[in-house]
Amino acid sequence: MDTKKTAPESGKKISGFSKLSKRGKIKWMVEHFFKDPENVMHELMSYWHHNEDQQKILDGFSENTITNFPLPYSVAPNFLINGKTYCVPLVTEESSVVAAAASAAKFWMDRGGFHAEVINTRKLGQIHFKWKGEVEKLKQFLPDIRQMMLEDAKDVTQNMFQRGGGVESIEIKQWSGIENYFQLLIGFQTCDSMGANFINSCLESFSSSLENFFMNADSLPDEWRDVEIIMSILSNYTPDCLVRAWVQCPIKELGEFAGNLSAEEFAERFYTAVQIAKEDPYRAVTHNKGIFNGIDAVVLATANDFRAVEACGHAYAARNGSYSSLSDCKLDDGVFYFSLELPLALGTIGGLTTLHPMAKRSLELLENPSAESLMMITASTGLAQNFAAIRSLVTTGIQYGHMKMHLVNILQHFKASEAQIEAAKIHFAKNKVSFHDVRSFLETWKG
Ligand code: MEV
Repeated sequence: MDTKKTAPESGKKISGFSKLSKRGKIKWMVEHFFKDPENVMHELMSYWHHNEDQQKILDGFSENTITNFPLPYSVAPNFLINGKTYCVPLVTEESSVVAAAASAAKFWMDRGGFHAEVINTRKLGQIHFKWKGEVEKLKQFLPDIRQMMLEDAKDVTQNMFQRGGGVESIEIKQWSGIENYFQLLIGFQTCDSMGANFINSCLESFSSSLENFFMNADSLPDEWRDVEIIMSILSNYTPDCLVRAWVQCPIKELGEFAGNLSAEEFAERFYTAVQIAKEDPYRAVTHNKGIFNGIDAVVLATANDFRAVEACGHAYAARNGSYSSLSDCKLDDGVFYFSLELPLALGTIGGLTTLHPMAKRSLELLENPSAESLMMITASTGLAQNFAAIRSLVTTGIQYGHMKMHLVNILQHFKASEAQIEAAKIHFAKNKVSFHDVRSFLETWKG
C-alpha cells in the first residue's frame, strides 16, 4: 500500500467553508476550480429560486448549498390502478421514460388497468451488541427486556401507537463468526411515514434500556452485566414491506402494441425476454434498471428516499442467491400475465414528503394517498416502464424510440433554431434518428 502523503494543491484547502455566505462559497469555489469564474458564478446564481422563502426551504434540506440542480418534472396520465385513475408525477432526466410510462398506461387503461396489492408494510431496525452471556439466557430475558424498552421509549412511541403503528416483533440473531455478538432485529409498523427517524429514535432508546437492564441485573455474574452497544440503526432491507402489481389480458389483445409481430409472436418473445432476465444477472440488472426508471421517478417526485428504495430492491432481487428479474411473465390458456413484486418503504407524511414544495404538489396530484396507495402507484409505474421497455426491445429495438426522444437534445447541442427544430421533428418522424443524420439534416437545411 502506498502510504506517501500528498499535500493539497496550494489554495484549494479551506477551513470554515460552511460558515461562508452562499455568495462567499460560490466565489471561493469558482475562483479555485473554474477557468471563467465570473460567468460560472452568474450561471450558478441564476438557478437560485426567485422566491427567497422557497429558497430557504430548499437550502434547509442540505449543507453547503450553493444553488439548485433543476431536473424536469413530468406527468404520465391515464394510469388506471385498482379502478382509480391517476396522473403520475415523474422526476427524471431520461426523456423516453415518461413517454414509455404514458404509452403503457394508456394501453393498459383499455384492458382493465393495473392491479396492485400491498402484502405487508413491516420495517426493520437492528441493535448490534456484544455480550458475554449465553443465548438461552438472553431468550429467557427477552420478554422483560422488551417490556423495559417499550416503557422507557413511551415518549418516542406514543404518537405512533396512537396512529396504529409501533413495535411488532423482536428477534434475537447471532453470527458465530463474530465473538460475543448478538443482534436484536426489531419489526416496526410506521403507518403513513417511511419511519426512518421514528425507528432510529426508538432503537437508540431501546439500546439504552438494554444496557440498563443488564447493569441492574444483580443476580447475574459480573461479566454478564456489561453490554457493549456497537450500533443501532434501521435496516434498509425491508423484504416484508412488499407490494405486488400486475396486468393481464387475452394474448390476442396485445396486437396493437406488437409492432410488426403477431400478438402471439409478441407474447412469446416478451415471455422469453423475461425468462432471460430471470436466469441471467447481466440481463437482470438492465431489466431491473428499466423498472427503477419508473420507480425512482415517482420516488423522487414525492421526495422519498430513492437510495433506500434502490438498495433494498436490488438486495431483494438477489434474495435467492443469484440476482434475478423483479418482474415475472406467464402465458396461460391464451392469457398474458405480467407482474412485479418488490419491497418499497415509502411514506406520504413526515420527512421531506410534506416539506418539499413540489413533493407536496405531487402528493396532491395523487389525491393525497396513504403510504400503501403510494406503494401500489409506484409499483404500477415500475411495471408500466418494464412493459414498455421490453416491448421496444423485442420489436423495434430501444434506439428507435430513444433517439426519437433524444432528437431535441441533439438539435439543441447543434444550437438549431426554432424553425430548424420544427422541420427536424417533421423529417425525423419518418426517419431514423442518429447524431450523424441530425448533423447532415441541419447542414443541408434550406429553411
Ligand atoms: C434504459 O434506461 C432502460 C432499458 O435498458 C431497460 C431494459 O433493457 O429492459 C431499456
